[in-house]
Amino acid sequence: MHPDCERILLTEQQLKTRIKEVAELVNKDFADKTPIIVSILKGSVIFCADLIRSLTMPVELEFMVVSSYGSGTVSSGKLKIKKDVERNIDGKDIIIVEDIIDSGFTLANLKALLLERGAKSVKIVTLLNKVARREYDIVPDYNCFDIEDEFVIGYGLDYNEIYRSLPYIGILKRSVYES
Ligand code: IMP
Ligand code: MG
Repeated sequence: MHPDCERILLTEQQLKTRIKEVAELVNKDFADKTPIIVSILKGSVIFCADLIRSLTMPVELEFMVVSSYGSGTVSSGKLKIKKDVERNIDGKDIIIVEDIIDSGFTLANLKALLLERGAKSVKIVTLLNKVARREYDIVPDYNCFDIEDEFVIGYGLDYNEIYRSLPYIGILKRSVYES
């Protein structure tokens, strides 16, 4: 375990098993469709790579960079689109793939934006869901794990851009961000 981790919350094996289960749900619901997967960079990239390899229907893959967090551990300000999808989404079925829903700010705004652009449907798949932190009215259509209000790292999730490459989800030691 990384020395900055308080403890491991989700092991590699737990992640793998649950992501397969959730992919099966998506497979059922989208069997006859060709959805556009919108992976929210950078946090969702590892989850998305694992998830889509268990999907059985044809998919297109797009990326967006939106900012809500700065370098810290508390949500801030407005949604900024730093990188947009590269095709017209009018009439398309969209599946947003996100690492974690915290306040819900990012996804509430992003979902509204994609619908405004004429998407036929917008579904949300999230790896982690911090239910206790919710401030915006957003419910994921597919959720791998509900977690407590702890700052987590690994499997794509960062603190100050570090720890994304850990193969598990760990709880970051408070001393790392409180010092
Ligand atoms: P929201 O807009 O408040 O829902 O924030 C969602 C974004 O905040 C996620 O996509 C993450 O980038 C970031 N975030 C929230 N909680 C954590 C965490 O515990 N670890 C790492 N990033 C987090
Ligand atoms: Mg993110």
